[in-house]
Amino acid sequence: MTLSFGVAYYPEHWLHLPDPRAARAAEINLMRAASFNVARLGEFAWSLLEPAPGQFDFGWLHDSIDELAQAGIQTVLGTPSAAPPAWLVQQHPGILAVDEAGRRVQFGNRCHYCVNAPEFHSAVQRLVGALAREFGQHPNVIGWQIDNEYNRYCYCERCQQLFQQFLAQRYGSLDQLNLHWATPYWSQTYQDWAQIPLPIGPHNPGLMLEHRRFVTHSYRRFQKLQIDLLRPQIHPAAWITHNFMFWHDGYDHYDLSADLDLASWDWYVGSGHLDYQASGAAHDLVRGYKRRSFWLMETQPGNVNWRKVNNVLNRGETRAAIWHAIAHGAQAALFWQWRSALGGQEQYHGTLIDQAGRPRPFFSEAQDIGRDFAALGGVLDGAELRPQVAILNSYDSRWSIQAQRHHNNFDYVSHLLHYYKPLAARNISVDIVSPDAPLEQYQLVIVPAQVILSPAQAAALEAFVLGGGHLVLTIRTGMKDGYNALLPQRQPGLLTRAAGVEVEEYYALEQSAPLQGVPQLGGTESRSTLWAERLAPLPGCDVQILARFCASNGWLDGRPAVTRHAYGRGQVTYVGVYLESLADQQVLVDDIVACSGVQPDLAAPENIEARRLVQPGGGSLYILINHNRFPAVVPLPWKAANLLCGQPAAGELSLEPYGVAVLQPV
Ligand code: GLA
Ligand code: ZN
Repeated sequence: MTLSFGVAYYPEHWLHLPDPRAARAAEINLMRAASFNVARLGEFAWSLLEPAPGQFDFGWLHDSIDELAQAGIQTVLGTPSAAPPAWLVQQHPGILAVDEAGRRVQFGNRCHYCVNAPEFHSAVQRLVGALAREFGQHPNVIGWQIDNEYNRYCYCERCQQLFQQFLAQRYGSLDQLNLHWATPYWSQTYQDWAQIPLPIGPHNPGLMLEHRRFVTHSYRRFQKLQIDLLRPQIHPAAWITHNFMFWHDGYDHYDLSADLDLASWDWYVGSGHLDYQASGAAHDLVRGYKRRSFWLMETQPGNVNWRKVNNVLNRGETRAAIWHAIAHGAQAALFWQWRSALGGQEQYHGTLIDQAGRPRPFFSEAQDIGRDFAALGGVLDGAELRPQVAILNSYDSRWSIQAQRHHNNFDYVSHLLHYYKPLAARNISVDIVSPDAPLEQYQLVIVPAQVILSPAQAAALEAFVLGGGHLVLTIRTGMKDGYNALLPQRQPGLLTRAAGVEVEEYYALEQSAPLQGVPQLGGTESRSTLWAERLAPLPGCDVQILARFCASNGWLDGRPAVTRHAYGRGQVTYVGVYLESLADQQVLVDDIVACSGVQPDLAAPENIEARRLVQPGGGSLYILINHNRFPAVVPLPWKAANLLCGQPAAGELSLEPYGVAVLQPV
């Protein structure tokens, strides 16, 4: 598939004009001037598409899709379920979600529905069914987006009852539930499913974890209702997606992605500027939802409207950002949104054309990107990253830690990024995947704070090490079972034998703990922050001690902090610390990388990102991005063609500020 480039387009904002068709013609001309080849339409247009129950008005949408088609612009259609209209809410007030305080949420800010409301389901089915019949076979509708950024929890009585039924199905009996949740603690023993609450704030860890799973189940069911209507009616080449919000933790994204054809997400830098070492992880995360290329369904044209300071990205920075997304596996980039509407909550958001219908200064940068894509032709079609490193991302573990951080600054994602960033700084590509993903293709697997580790996951990790892989286990890993209960054994639980160490004790640190001067950790200055674990090598195990604690709380003093154990044909590094400085973390990760034999995609100076993509025929392509605001020079190990400018590159490559090159070695 050729790179798709376009916008979120809302022709319904302009239907009041005397000649909306002429207005659209002028807009579509401008879209062509930016080389757009895709537009997303319709995802909030319910009140216009169905102005009264069962009365559909698809004319303007049909016309818009046809006019776009004539200009060579394909359509992604949104199902408008994120914006249930006023008439529906008036007819069935019970479809409004209920918040934690028991209040019905207000109409008009999107996603105001209870995801389990049957009247809502019926109304969505009626509309989506009609849309599928009307547009499913339209050759220019290439894909469907279901809803928009699922994000709400509902605390209505119906959701509570459904939660109880969900638990009854999972546990089979209250005896089992009481056992796994240790309900004798604080007299929580349940004798009737109807006694079980929806957790509001802190509660029993088993209950809290199951609630997240129930929310996941509810959204998946709601999404499936729509998929089941679309699938039989849309043409075989059309795909179905949802636009996720990357690190959003409301539900398990692997679970929701399972029923979709394609993963997509909405990326906003918001305030400040691009931090490519952090955003790269977000792209890799989304690529990991389905373990293949994804769509960047929304990104900001310049600025947003919802941060404290809605600054614009610098000239050239958005182009670099979009190339960064492509270097991490995006097949498409769509700006949100095309044109400033005169009213509505988002009047100040960045757009391509302004309230007067005239191109904003930013438009010229979109044209630059359009030219880039045109210059490439189909060379990136089917090209994929081939990471040798995986970082496992566990929603169960994240939820478990979030509910009981033990140190309030302990954040699951920040801790994961602490391992990701040093890899990104070295241009080592990474897959961020579910703990259930296959591991054969990797040389290095990092398991950050995976507090909940199932026997099957532990077995897969052990097999990975026995087969020659390098496994990194970090603090908090391997402590709990799938019910969020402590395992009746020490950390890292089922991986203790492979690690060659056990955790005798864990400590939340009030003050960071100093570490003894081992070369791997950058001399004498290293410190562990937030968390520290006292490790003990297993008797008879030949365990290498990479770092020890210096004098700190008395309990840690002199004890092993980071260890390495040869096991089978592989090795396990256990990191019982949270290194305070990123520089120290870089030293540690560099050491792990060297030990595992993983190679960077391309060695490059600081803040020059380089990613290798492999074409279906096996050829390599390199995307290089200068994230600096000053020029840079990158030494090249091979001769190449720079596909963006058609010039040869050899010896070294000069990149302007925010400059980009796509190199094909010759
Ligand atoms: C979200 C939504 C869009 C729009 C943008 C604004 O990502 O999906 O509809 O509201 O934010 O930044
Ligand atoms: Zn509800």
